[in-house]
Amino acid sequence: MRISRLFIFTLSVLVFVACQSDDDFVDTSIDDPMDIPDINDVDDPTPEPVNTDIVELGRQLFWDPILSGEKDVACATCHHPNFGYSDGRELPIGVGGVGLGPQRIDAVNDDIGLVPRNSPTIINTAFNGMDELGNYDPDLAPMFWDNRTLSLEAQAIGPLHSFEEMRGHAYDEALTIDSIVARLQSIDAYRNSFEAIFSGSDPINSNTIGEAIAAFERTITATDSPFDRFQAGDQNALTQAQIRGMNRFNQVGCDDCHSGPMFSDYQLHVLGVPDNDLLSFSDDGANGTYAFRTPTLRNLSDTGPYFHNGVAGNLQQSIQFYITARNAANGGPGGPGGPPGGLAANPNVNANEYDPEIRDLGNLNPNDIQDIVAFIRALDDPNYDRSVPSSVPSGLYPGGNID
Ligand code: HEC
Ligand code: HEC
Repeated sequence: MRISRLFIFTLSVLVFVACQSDDDFVDTSIDDPMDIPDINDVDDPTPEPVNTDIVELGRQLFWDPILSGEKDVACATCHHPNFGYSDGRELPIGVGGVGLGPQRIDAVNDDIGLVPRNSPTIINTAFNGMDELGNYDPDLAPMFWDNRTLSLEAQAIGPLHSFEEMRGHAYDEALTIDSIVARLQSIDAYRNSFEAIFSGSDPINSNTIGEAIAAFERTITATDSPFDRFQAGDQNALTQAQIRGMNRFNQVGCDDCHSGPMFSDYQLHVLGVPDNDLLSFSDDGANGTYAFRTPTLRNLSDTGPYFHNGVAGNLQQSIQFYITARNAANGGPGGPGGPPGGLAANPNVNANEYDPEIRDLGNLNPNDIQDIVAFIRALDDPNYDRSVPSSVPSGLYPGGNID
């Protein structure tokens, strides 16, 4: 990895130097971020020509609560454009909830509780699994905080079966797809769309539902952040604080895991993030190891709170936590790090279980944290598709009970 990054870096410097006259030589005190491929040069997640019919069908399904047992929850309930295609909550309320975002309440007193993990954004999930060189395979794109499912197509079927997220008591888990297919078949607009787009005698099935939703999700991208413009050559796109933050980000070792154009290696790592007290159990992550996947750092301004269970209320707090984690990983106290209200390390994770990259992190002082927050904000591109359909084919309220 290191060698190839160095190679690309050297190559880009050579090309760069070859193209420039001495007069406009650029200040080299700026760590060159060009060892990351430009996100706008990687393969397009929706190859031309875009099949607009399947994208529109996927959009309808994404917004239509007809896919949930009680017809009250849609994908968009927890992945809403007003909250960066997340839900602005520590932990989501699915079935039986009313309202949107932090205002959403559990309106029914039943056995359906909170969804135990923070809702990740849909923005740029088209690129999940991208490596440091910008390569990715949509069929093998890892999904969820523990990477347990591969591809957007396969992922889309998961929430339909989930008791807390969408299914509730309406039907047994084994009957989920049959029940939903029967509902879609009884709605003319869906039957006609599926027949027009997919061949075969039963065009409405779990594969075609997944394909349509995934096709829509692949159109929700945001790749024109100040960082992207800086990388494309606009030296004024970043502030001084953001440049300092970018340099510290790389020097401290954040880029060991938040690497490549998506600022994620999409691998599992043990950070010792504490459990969320709203849950009655300890979430021990992938295969009981307390490992969770590195999330992208793009568009974080819209997608808080942070970490797999939303325990970090803001970027400051999530970065502050790395001081605590590094201490705990080196056998020091795992108590709250820094200012009051800081997060403690998870008492169920032993020092020797931490990721080695956490043990080896460089020093972070309060100024670094400010600058790194500024840098992460340079990865925001607020101009993604935020359109909300005014109606969906079932006639139900788009997005479910979110008003
Ligand atoms: C009640 C809230 C809720 C609903 C409804 C919901 N999701 Fe999610 N979604 C989540 C949570 C929570 C996770 C993370 C779960 C985990 O990691 O275990 C998630 C994860 C995902 C991911 C993985 C993102 C990544 O980067 O790993 C995608 C894609 C996704 N959801 C799409 C959908 C689609 C499509 C639907 C509708 C069919 C849907 N979601 C319905 C809450 C919800
Ligand atoms: C060993 C790999 C690793 C290193 C090094 C690392 N991170 Fe992370 N980062 C992760 C993982 C894994 C998570 C998710 C942890 C969880 O939720 O339990 C995460 C989560 C985050 C989040 C929250 C994002 C979200 O959407 O919830 C931020 C912000 C962040 N890291 C910034 C940084 C910064 C800044 C540094 C350097 C000081 C850094 N990371 C170093 C792996 C790493």
